[in-house]
Amino acid sequence: MRLVEAEHSDDVGRRAAALVFQQLRAKPESVITLATGSTPLPLFRELVAASKSDPGLFRRAYFVTLDEYAGIAHDDRRRLLNWLRREFLEPAGIHDRQLIAFDPLADPAAECPRIEKAIEARGGLDLAVLGLGPNGHLGFNEPGSSFASRTRMVPLAAESIISNAAYWGKEEDVPKHALTLGLGTLKQARLIILMVSGMGKADVLASLLSGPISECMPASLLRLCSTCNVIADRASLSRHLRDKNDK
Ligand code: F6R
Repeated sequence: MRLVEAEHSDDVGRRAAALVFQQLRAKPESVITLATGSTPLPLFRELVAASKSDPGLFRRAYFVTLDEYAGIAHDDRRRLLNWLRREFLEPAGIHDRQLIAFDPLADPAAECPRIEKAIEARGGLDLAVLGLGPNGHLGFNEPGSSFASRTRMVPLAAESIISNAAYWGKEEDVPKHALTLGLGTLKQARLIILMVSGMGKADVLASLLSGPISECMPASLLRLCSTCNVIADRASLSRHLRDKNDK
């Protein structure tokens, strides 16, 4: 795992975008999974801007949804695919035929292996762009997820329900289950980028960088991945840097 120190959230986005462009230059038909949430927004802005000056940039790439709420309507605004469509896929001119996306209403027992097979059929994940959950989750791989886990339906942890309540109005309205690529699926990606920004992530990032490697902290798996770049801004690194200086 390599740690890249960025100035602020926009700089995290710029540095992540540079790696995405490098990946696409090396392999235009890359299979890429993308996190949703607030951290990757500066990256999406960079990617959309680049697609305007180079309309062919993403033409041969495939995009995989990292996770999805289970059981919600296809056209629900809060469906993570629809969020990704608004923030990135549509403005960047990416077609539906380039997507591998969870159907939230399909039977998870068939849907999760279908996603795994669709990724494999295109040669496996080339790039996983991830965000860091407040409890250390990656995708919706909550604490306690096996490092070997594959794509599956999971119950959401209480912390994830609380942190997603803002999008749903109130906690009771947040779906209780989600579909997620597994940690074992993600660790096979040829390149992983973990984007982290803001003071709110300072404690969880410090524990990811120097706490125990354990399934209680799903993101600690990345310490074992030589292909992972953690791009973190100063605010999110503040606790880690302070702990280091105190030693
Ligand atoms: C969303 C996802 C989540 C988020 C994480 C951080 O698709 O995979 O793991 O990346 O919860 O979310 P933000 O960036 O909103 O802090």
